[in-house]
Amino acid sequence: MEEAKREHFGGRLAIIMAMAGSAIGLGNIWRFPYLAGEHGGAAFIFVYIIASLFLSLPIFLAESIIGRRSHANTYGAMEKLAPGTKWKWMSILTIIAPLIIVSYYSVVGGWSIEYLLKSLTFSFNNVPRAEISSMFSSFIASPWIPIACHTVFLGTCAVILTAGVKSGIEKFSNWSVPILFILILVILLYSLTLPGAMDGVEYMIKPDFSKIDSKVILAAMGQSFYSLSLGVGTILVYSSYVSKKENLLVSGVGTAVFDLLFAIMAGFAVMTAVFSAGVKPGAGPGLIFESLPYVFSTMAGSAPIISGIIAILFFVTILVSALTSGVSLMEVGVAYLVEEKKMRRGVATLSVFIGTWILGCLCSLSFGPMSGLKIFGENLFGFCDWISSNFLMALGALLFSLFVGWKMKKSDVYDEFTNGGTLRFNVRCFKAVYFLIRYIAPLVIGIIFLSGILL
Ligand code: PFF
Repeated sequence: MEEAKREHFGGRLAIIMAMAGSAIGLGNIWRFPYLAGEHGGAAFIFVYIIASLFLSLPIFLAESIIGRRSHANTYGAMEKLAPGTKWKWMSILTIIAPLIIVSYYSVVGGWSIEYLLKSLTFSFNNVPRAEISSMFSSFIASPWIPIACHTVFLGTCAVILTAGVKSGIEKFSNWSVPILFILILVILLYSLTLPGAMDGVEYMIKPDFSKIDSKVILAAMGQSFYSLSLGVGTILVYSSYVSKKENLLVSGVGTAVFDLLFAIMAGFAVMTAVFSAGVKPGAGPGLIFESLPYVFSTMAGSAPIISGIIAILFFVTILVSALTSGVSLMEVGVAYLVEEKKMRRGVATLSVFIGTWILGCLCSLSFGPMSGLKIFGENLFGFCDWISSNFLMALGALLFSLFVGWKMKKSDVYDEFTNGGTLRFNVRCFKAVYFLIRYIAPLVIGIIFLSGILL
């Protein structure tokens, strides 16, 4: 009865688009290219693919199995699949973690709105490097405009969510994900034509296996986790909107492939541009909001209109990719409030909006008036990023893999993964997937988890 009321995604492609929308985001644009270049180019990409295949994909499948088996939010899922146990309390972690992430993620999403507006007025043309850097630092330190942009970003996510799973999330991802690929392809093709672009290509792919050590392996695994949105319940909740007919393995592999493809295309697009302007690449916000605008500024000398258009396309790409991820992060809390607290969807979305808006404002202010507040040596923004990507995501992923590998009945996991034994390929690879979820994932995440705390 209850399940009949629950919305479902409209088919295989819609599922992959929504999940890829969650996966493709700032992580692909500001972290992946830099990590790849710094850590041995193609050698890093190789480790990243292995980590995605043998670690992230099994965890992705574990989350999908819990979500689709229960057809419920993260809390309800634990209550349905392990009634009367403490597991439901652990799921609270996966409700809080995405809300922390979306709070600071939305601040950066907001910055991209401001930079999109700047690029629409061709504000980067022929501006010296130092001025671009100070433009960025004084912008993020100012109190009002970043908060206004954060409000617009989060508000847009909320409007999409209020429309529901099918008319909101599904519709938005269905058009935005293909557009993201078209945009990044156009930018990539243009960047490849720039003088000196090949240095960027070399930086990204020149294989240097001597750089591969335990730190690099951990970085690759951490990035693969972050990029696939694991451990915080987004994949669980999206999978809870997947009908029993669909093949979970196909949506998992499809999402991972799209995410990787986008990361590599964005990596080449960003790095070729950065190298052609003679800028040293860095990670994080500096790459997008300092190095790239400088690239546009230098390009403007010879072709101001083209450089202006490329700048606009870049910031639209960043903004849209952040929106699809932001929506998925907020949905975890919305689903919880709708199903467990019986709120109307609009009210639930508003509640999540208010909570994350407040935390986001504090994160934004932590670059300006509140910069004196330090938590473990970081401002609030840095702390939220650190605690979620190094700690909460790994902890969540560990719990999901333990739940599927040790708490759920093996026959139920089999049933869910193979659609009752009807999917032949899934039947054949079930043993391997189960082994990875039950033994390898908890072991490896345990190591990542400890190293995140200790290193
Ligand atoms: N995968 C997103 C990115 O690469 O930017 C970030 C993210 C989205 C993390 C959703 C976690 C999540 F639940």
